[in-house]
Amino acid sequence: PRKVTTHVLSEMKMKGEKISMLTAYDYSMASIVDQAGLDVVLVGDSASNVMAGWETTLPITLDQMIYHGASVVRAVKTALVVVDLPFGSYQGNSREALHSAIRIMKETAADAIKLEGGVEIVESVKRILSAGIPVMGHLGLTPQSIHKFGTYTVRARQEEEAKKLIEDAHLLEEAGCFALVLEKIPAKLAAQVASELKIPVIGIGAGNGVDGQVLVVHDMLGINQSFSPRFLRRYHNLFAEITGAVRNYIEDVKSGDFPNEREQY
Ligand code: KIV
Ligand code: NA
Repeated sequence: PRKVTTHVLSEMKMKGEKISMLTAYDYSMASIVDQAGLDVVLVGDSASNVMAGWETTLPITLDQMIYHGASVVRAVKTALVVVDLPFGSYQGNSREALHSAIRIMKETAADAIKLEGGVEIVESVKRILSAGIPVMGHLGLTPQSIHKFGTYTVRARQEEEAKKLIEDAHLLEEAGCFALVLEKIPAKLAAQVASELKIPVIGIGAGNGVDGQVLVVHDMLGINQSFSPRFLRRYHNLFAEITGAVRNYIEDVKSGDFPNEREQY
């Protein structure tokens, strides 16, 4: 299969072909999802929760995102690789934003970066784009602003917030973003944004009227048992699978069954 580029994603939207996207944070998982034929791999700052066990996405650093990003890029042959700019590396200062984006591009060899927000960060988006770095936007539930909102509930249910989201989406498209993630907003609003924009809109908890879907890979594989929002479809119960395998191993070690004659030198 040919390498997925931002241009390929734009063609997919024009042809009405849905875009598949998942997160990955390490070489081994990235290698699996890429070989399975996924279109886009997101090195999300959800690594802060999933990999590091933090409560929010705020603590993860630019250096840590670079470590995850470089690990994923080394594995991926076909998918487009997008790396999140972490909290504190781009907000409010477009020069710092550009510097952070350049570090990601140079030190991971990813294909693009993603950042959260609309009008508040559009200067940063423009500055990064002017350096030739593709930018993916992210609106709706933006976990880096959790302390502003206070909850992870559905966003833009009220007309005022919906109106701002639509304006922000157009602003990001006009600035030159190649795609947009919409997280946890009403399906009807997401569908409206996807139909108004020419760039692909990828949803998570945003219904089926968008141009593609993204999930956190550990969630959809059922590695994490505690997180179960309505939008999450579990494709496997890896928690149970891994628990079973580990229990078998423990039993075999304790009983002396492992290793056997053929498993030693
Ligand atoms: O960090 C992440 O996993 C994300 C997706 C949920 C879109 O930003
Ligand atoms: Na993210």
